[in-house]
Amino acid sequence: VLPENAWKDFPQLAQKIQGRSYSYLDSAATTLKPWPVLEAVSKFLTSDVANVHRGAYRLSDNVTESFESVRTQVSQWIGSQDPRQIIFTKGATESINLVSNSFRNLEYKKGDAIVVTQLEHHSNFVPWQQLCQEKGIDFLVVPVNDQGVLDLDKYEEFLKNYRVKLVSVTLMSNVLGVITDIQTIIQLAHKHGALVLGDAAQLISFQAIDVKKWDIDFLVFSGHKLFAPYGLGVLYGKFDVLNQISCYQFGGSMVLKVTQSQTQFQELPYRLEAGTPNIEGVIGLGAAISYLNKFDRSQMIEHEMGLHNLLIQELNLISEIKIFAHHLWQANDNQKGPVVSFILKGVHSSDVAQILNQENVFVRSGVHCAQPLAERLDLIKCGGSIRASLSVYSQKKDIEKLISAIYKAKEILL
Ligand SMILES: Cc1ncc(COP(=O)(O)O)c(C=O)c1O
Repeated sequence: VLPENAWKDFPQLAQKIQGRSYSYLDSAATTLKPWPVLEAVSKFLTSDVANVHRGAYRLSDNVTESFESVRTQVSQWIGSQDPRQIIFTKGATESINLVSNSFRNLEYKKGDAIVVTQLEHHSNFVPWQQLCQEKGIDFLVVPVNDQGVLDLDKYEEFLKNYRVKLVSVTLMSNVLGVITDIQTIIQLAHKHGALVLGDAAQLISFQAIDVKKWDIDFLVFSGHKLFAPYGLGVLYGKFDVLNQISCYQFGGSMVLKVTQSQTQFQELPYRLEAGTPNIEGVIGLGAAISYLNKFDRSQMIEHEMGLHNLLIQELNLISEIKIFAHHLWQANDNQKGPVVSFILKGVHSSDVAQILNQENVFVRSGVHCAQPLAERLDLIKCGGSIRASLSVYSQKKDIEKLISAIYKAKEILL
């Protein structure tokens, strides 16, 4: 299947708003859903409903089998060896909080630290900041340069000067599209005895992930950014580290034996999955992965980055526009994904987004849940940046509509 034709699989793109078609350029916030996902979820809810891991009847066995086969699919999708290393959660945010909550139980000494970066989404920043404040340990933030590239010398300095317990880092910035050098980050962390959590919320729909090859300790992502339904996320972990993660929720499904005086818990992954899970979410995620497997990954990247490069080229022609991380786009060496942040100099970004909205071009403006990065890039005073983010269903006409709407905004606002 060619990525150029993918848009036909997304029924929402045939919808109109106020009688006109629109361009959806906010895929970094959430992706649209293709027919196979909608059909799989609908089929489950219409004719296959039963609870998982419970029943002594055919329907329940069938849904349990489908549910567990998605665990295997996810495991293969990220290069993990064993489906038991895949924990289903509510989302990337819950996956991170599940790990950070467990870190509350550790004993800390002066000189211990947690490392994050200036690129992080709040959901991979605030949990660690709060933990460090509670435990009285150092919260270290790796700075970025003006193009959003991490200062790896500073990172290494942190690792040498502190006892870093964990490095929690995004694999791709949701603001700039910058892809971090995760293999180097992991190698350095392990050399200094630190664990690494990778936030794959953005990278998951773009580049291949190989947790085994990278030797990463934890990986998190949300289904809704991978064409699947809401309220479903994944936590991957190496067996030994996952086994040390404490349960932060207790209830059904995760217990083996309960008496009045004590409880024996299940093994992984069930120990960390208390309560009835988001079954239709999991079914939808399986359908999303099957759908994506029909494409050739390099063709998908080519399609998305082709549109990305066209957008950058056009934006570069407008002297009043400042683009962030744009020098990385020429490098076809994995440094950038299909997310473009820019400002119209001297204009509040929400004013620009409002005019784009009137033109039925849907982008996001603001700090994109990454305020420390907005501060670093001096974006607070102009209301953050305008972000256009692309996906497999994006088309050339979306870029053309965006550009002509920007010219209109420029005319009105400058
Ligand atoms: C890089 C990154 N990390 C984490 C998250 C949080 O994802 P969720 O809100 O689905 O838990 C997002 C969502 O925008 C993100 O872009």
